[in-house]
Amino acid sequence: MRVLIIGSLGGQLGEATKIAMNNGAKVAHVENVDSALQALRAGQGADLLMVDIGNDISSLAKALKTERIHVPIVACGVSATPASAAGAIRAGAKEYIPLPPDAELIAAVLAAVANDDRPMIARDPAIRQVVSLADQVAKSNASILITGESGSGKEVMARYVHDKSKRASKAFISINCAAIPDNLLESELFGHEKGAFTGAVARRIGKFEEADGGTLLLDEISEMDARLQAKLLRAIQEREIDRVGGARPVKVDIRILATSNRDLIKAVQDGSFREDLLFRLNVVNLKLPPLRDRPGDIAALADYFAARYAAANGVANRPISDTARHVLLNRQWPGNVRELENAMHRAVLLAEGDEIGPDALRAPDGSKLGDAAPRGVVESATEAAQVSAQSAVGSTVAQVEQDLILDTLNHCLGNRTHAANILGISIRTLRNKLKLYADHGVSVPVPGNGGHADIGALA
Ligand SMILES: Nc1ncnc2c1ncn2[C@@H]1O[C@H](COP(=O)(O)OP(=O)(O)O)[C@@H](O)[C@H]1O
Ligand SMILES: [Mg+2]
Repeated sequence: MRVLIIGSLGGQLGEATKIAMNNGAKVAHVENVDSALQALRAGQGADLLMVDIGNDISSLAKALKTERIHVPIVACGVSATPASAAGAIRAGAKEYIPLPPDAELIAAVLAAVANDDRPMIARDPAIRQVVSLADQVAKSNASILITGESGSGKEVMARYVHDKSKRASKAFISINCAAIPDNLLESELFGHEKGAFTGAVARRIGKFEEADGGTLLLDEISEMDARLQAKLLRAIQEREIDRVGGARPVKVDIRILATSNRDLIKAVQDGSFREDLLFRLNVVNLKLPPLRDRPGDIAALADYFAARYAAANGVANRPISDTARHVLLNRQWPGNVRELENAMHRAVLLAEGDEIGPDALRAPDGSKLGDAAPRGVVESATEAAQVSAQSAVGSTVAQVEQDLILDTLNHCLGNRTHAANILGISIRTLRNKLKLYADHGVSVPVPGNGGHADIGALA
């Protein structure tokens, strides 16, 4: 966890810094917002900004947004009035920490932001085999392609490979190629020089340079357009990149990992993915089996998620009852580990009594997981489509489509990638449609990784 502190370290902020370091954070410091922006553009990575409330948080938040630097802001202030806290949040801070700092509060905020402490659970022989292949190749610099259905743990595996590699102490940078519009992805990957295009207010270091010495994860690589695929190929072959608007290439030393939930061989056949790029990336292929093909993991994962979400929500860690275990084991889990994780999150919040019983195991729409034959999200989404189509006589195709898209997205707790997979459309198409709906004043579920459902919606 890399924390960038913004403000004068003389007073209480210095204390907060010490506490963050004691919690294992790598801390860097700048005096003001301008220096912070300079550092971030120059490739100083940060997972969290801790900003003294004396700074102009609102202009910091705006600059981060226009320059697409994704890092949460936590505001800190000595005179903690509710008004100052609210002001900081309104200006764009995620959290407010009153000073003098409370060690436990800082530890909790860091833990909530950090994802580093997530273990990979792998008990079933089917995944043990993949893990041992990962162990064998982690130490090399070989590019690795990680494939598997959505929610099967591709990002978890990428992190695992990095942690086992010789680059473990260096940066692990990941970029979701599907989540960034085509015209911005190039500068996101390779950076840009000041003035390279409208809005390029300053030189910006891209992910390739940020990952220098470490590992770069190109997540959902199949979504990259052909022009950029060519540039990526060159970057991987030559180990050098061209910043957008840059005069000369820049050398980089990185290890590349990539993930895809689409069959890239098929994508090569239908011409949407370059064969030479696939060969470059696919030096080793780690294939994650879907959860239904590794039943030996289900109980261990369920226990782990139950404990994790009980702790996160401050409720008792109840054991999972035998009947509930049976329900979990007999389900197909089309959304894989992510779906199981969300189910356990809900179960922790819904459970009554001493155990997590079958009643607490619910689909996002509130229906019981154990009812009738286990059904997948695909089936229920298809059915929802049929139902809405039947009752939709007289409405436009566009309206029916909008309903289906929003229902599916709700079903996936706002997770765009997952919803796009179920709908069989590209994430980009989904994003464009959502933007259109939002522009027309339709309320669209907020993006989520599915891990933080608004449980109020269940009731
Ligand atoms: N083996 C595992 N052990 C623990 N958690 C896992 C495991 N695999 C997946 N998860 C959890 O499931 C969710 C989805 O995993 P992710 O790696 O994002 O899947 P993918 O990238 O394949 O869609 C994440 O919250 C992740 O932490
Ligand atoms: Mg993923």
